[in-house]
Amino acid sequence: MILVLDFGGQYAQLIARRVRECRVFSELVPYDTPIEEIKRKDPEGIILSGGPSSVYEEGAPRVDPALFELGVPILGICYGMQLMALEMGGKVGAVQIREYGPSEIEVRDHRVLFADTPERQRVWMSHGDAVLSAPEGFEVTAGTSSTPVVAFEETSKGRYGVQFHPEVRHTEYGMEILKNFLFEACECRAEWTPVNIITEATERIREQVGDARVIAALSGGVDSATAAMLVYRAIGDNLTCVFVDHGLLRENEAEQVMEAFTENYEIPLIHVDATRRFLDRLAGVTDPEKKRKIVGEEFIRTFEEEARRIEDARFLVQGTLYSDVIESGTRDAARIKSHHNVGGLPEVMDLELVEPLRNLFKDEVRVIAEELGMPERLVWRQPFPGPGLAIRIIGEVTAERLEILRRADAVLQDEIRAAGYYRKLWQSFAVLPAVQSVGVMGDARTYAYPIVIRAVTSDDAMTADWARLPYDLLERISNRIINEVPGVNRVALDITSKPPGTIEWE
Ligand code: XMP
Repeated sequence: MILVLDFGGQYAQLIARRVRECRVFSELVPYDTPIEEIKRKDPEGIILSGGPSSVYEEGAPRVDPALFELGVPILGICYGMQLMALEMGGKVGAVQIREYGPSEIEVRDHRVLFADTPERQRVWMSHGDAVLSAPEGFEVTAGTSSTPVVAFEETSKGRYGVQFHPEVRHTEYGMEILKNFLFEACECRAEWTPVNIITEATERIREQVGDARVIAALSGGVDSATAAMLVYRAIGDNLTCVFVDHGLLRENEAEQVMEAFTENYEIPLIHVDATRRFLDRLAGVTDPEKKRKIVGEEFIRTFEEEARRIEDARFLVQGTLYSDVIESGTRDAARIKSHHNVGGLPEVMDLELVEPLRNLFKDEVRVIAEELGMPERLVWRQPFPGPGLAIRIIGEVTAERLEILRRADAVLQDEIRAAGYYRKLWQSFAVLPAVQSVGVMGDARTYAYPIVIRAVTSDDAMTADWARLPYDLLERISNRIINEVPGVNRVALDITSKPPGTIEWE
C-alpha cells in the first residue's frame, strides 16, 4: 500500500488514482495524520502531494520529521519535494520565472526515478517556489534552464523529489517515473487486481458480519448492486435486499430496477413504496442541504423499519464510494455537499454499515461489476444521486414539479440514447429551476418553467467537463421537451465544468 499525504494540492486525488492504475493500492490521508497511524497502516511507500502554500509561509503545512526516519521510501511532489528539501537542510525559495504548464526538463542522472526514460522529456509544472539547493547527500537528477533543481534523490535512503507533476497526463513519462518509484524504490508488487479486490472484500465482509442477517439498500445503480453482490458472495442467503422507492426516481425507474434485479438474481428483494413519507417530509423545504439530510435520514429510518421485520438483522450494506466520502468533507477537503449516504446520515443509527466499495472510485467499481458478471445495462448505467430528483428540482419539491421534471428527463434520456451518447457521457439529465419566464405558444402568452440540460463527461465525478453535444441533438431535445411537457416553455444548456460548478445543481 502506498500512502499519499494530502497537502491540499489539486492533483492529490490524481496521484492516488495513478498509483491504483499501476495495480498498487493507494490511500489519500491528511498531511498531519499522526505518525503512529501512518505506522499502523504499514505503507510500502509514501508520496507527499503538492499544495497551494509556500513552505516559508506562516502556518504552512509541515510534516512530522519522524516521517523521514520510518525507513520507508518517500517521493515528494512539488510542495512535497520542497518540504523534504527544507526538512533535510536544503534551500527553497521563489523562482524568478514562475512555471505553470508544459516545460522540458533535462535528465542528468537517470538513477532510479528516471530509469529507462529519455534525457529530455516534457513535464507539467505548476509552481512559484522551487528547491534552490539540494540537501547534503542528495543528487540533483534533473533541471530546466530556469529551475536548476527539478528532481533529486538520495537513493540509499529512499528519498526522492520531483518539482513537476508525474501524475498529470501532460507529463510525458509520468507513469514510468511513478512506476520506477513503486516497483524499484518501494519494491511494490502489482497485486491490486479486480480478482484480488473481490477476494479481499469478501473476506472482510465475512469478518465484519459473521452469522448475522444483513440487508442491502438497492438503488438500481451499479454501486449498490455491486456492493450487494459482494455481500451475497460472502454470506449467501443471510442477505436480503431492500429497494426503497422514495418517489424521487425517474420515469418508470422503480419498475425497471425491480425487473432487472429479479430477472438476473435470486436474492430476496423487498420493494418498499415510501413516496408519501418522503414527499411529506420534503414539503415546503427549499434548502439543498436540508433536502439531502431529510432524504438521508428517511432512508435510514425506512431501512431500520424493514430490518426490524427481519430477525437478527444488524447490518446495512451501502454502495458508498470513495468520491462520496471525500466530497462530504474530509478535514482538508472542504464540505461541498452532504452526499446522502455519508454526510447526510443521521447521527444515531440502529444498523451498522457495511460499505465494501468505500475505498473505490466509480470506474474501479465498474471493473469489479464486470468481473462479477453483472449485466451490461446495470454496469454502465449513468450515476443517479440518492436524493434523486429532489436535488434536481430547485426550490420546493411538489408532485406537480416532479411530474414536469420526470417527463422532460425521459425525453432527454430517450434522445441521448438514440443518438448513441448514453455511454459516452458520465451523466445526462434535466434540471428544473425555480424561475418562470415568458414565452409564446400558439399565439398565446405562456409563463412557465425552463428546463436546463446538464450533460457532462468525467472519469470519477471529482472533476467534469460539460459535454459538447451536437446542435441537431440539442435541437431535438429542446423541441420535444417544449412540445411534449406541459408547464415548460424554454430549454437552456448548462455549459459549466466542475469546478467551478458541481455536477448536480444542489
Ligand atoms: P456533484 O454534484 O457533487 O456530484 O458534482 C458528484 C457525483 O455524485 C452524485 N451525487 C450523489 N450520489 N448521493 C449519491 O449517491 C448523493 O447525495 C449525491 N450527490 C451527488 C452526482 O450525481 C454525481 O455523479
